[in-house]
Amino acid sequence: MFQSPFSIGIFKRAIDRKLVSVNTHNIRDYTHDRHHTVDDYAYGGGAGMILKPEPIFEAVESIKSDICSKEGAGVLPIILLTPQGRRFTQQIAQELSRYRHMILICGHYEGVDERVRQHLVTDEISIGDYVLSGGELAAMVVVDAVVRLLPGVLGSEASLLDDSHTAGLLEYPQYTRPAAYRGWSVPQVLLSGNHAQIANWRREQAIRRTLGHRPELLDKANLSLEEKQLVDRWKQS
Ligand code: 6GU
Repeated sequence: MFQSPFSIGIFKRAIDRKLVSVNTHNIRDYTHDRHHTVDDYAYGGGAGMILKPEPIFEAVESIKSDICSKEGAGVLPIILLTPQGRRFTQQIAQELSRYRHMILICGHYEGVDERVRQHLVTDEISIGDYVLSGGELAAMVVVDAVVRLLPGVLGSEASLLDDSHTAGLLEYPQYTRPAAYRGWSVPQVLLSGNHAQIANWRREQAIRRTLGHRPELLDKANLSLEEKQLVDRWKQS
């Protein structure tokens, strides 16, 4: 499940250039019984199997001691992917991109033994308010968002600054050739070569789009007085 996303595109480039490494571990390899049991029935009853604590503790402790023996003890986030975690945002991606290592635990089935949460995990992350059948896709989402922030991973760091959510606004509309397609023309200002006007237009469009799609983001965006007045006028019309 983890192979193909990491073997194409910017990931592959980043891994080949040793800017990052992603290692996957199967908790079944940390069991001691013949059937490699990783889950069991819930105490107290109820539908669904619960991931047992022992394989998760042993896997994490083994990975942790590998990292520490090579690089010494530093802060090492141990993150459980779960719908009950704090909601993942660009700000959390930026925060995580500062760590040298992190361990992500993919919850699965109907739950994870509470002792994993209480005594192993340092953080719990959800990628949004919907339910996935496991934490694997969520882990890949987190890794993708973090890796593209690492120095050297993208061609130009400058393009990061314009991304949606980086400045607290959605991204402005983008166009490429042809200048007219099926009668739909590219806004004249973008063809003008006037960089100051283009920057103004883009900023205004980013604010307008944010107001239209995600108005709640504007409360936290850094708008000038003029821009706030513009938003008020748009709201009234
Ligand atoms: Cl992190 N896990 C699962 N199973 N479902 C989710 C999620 C995580 N984030 C949103 N939905």
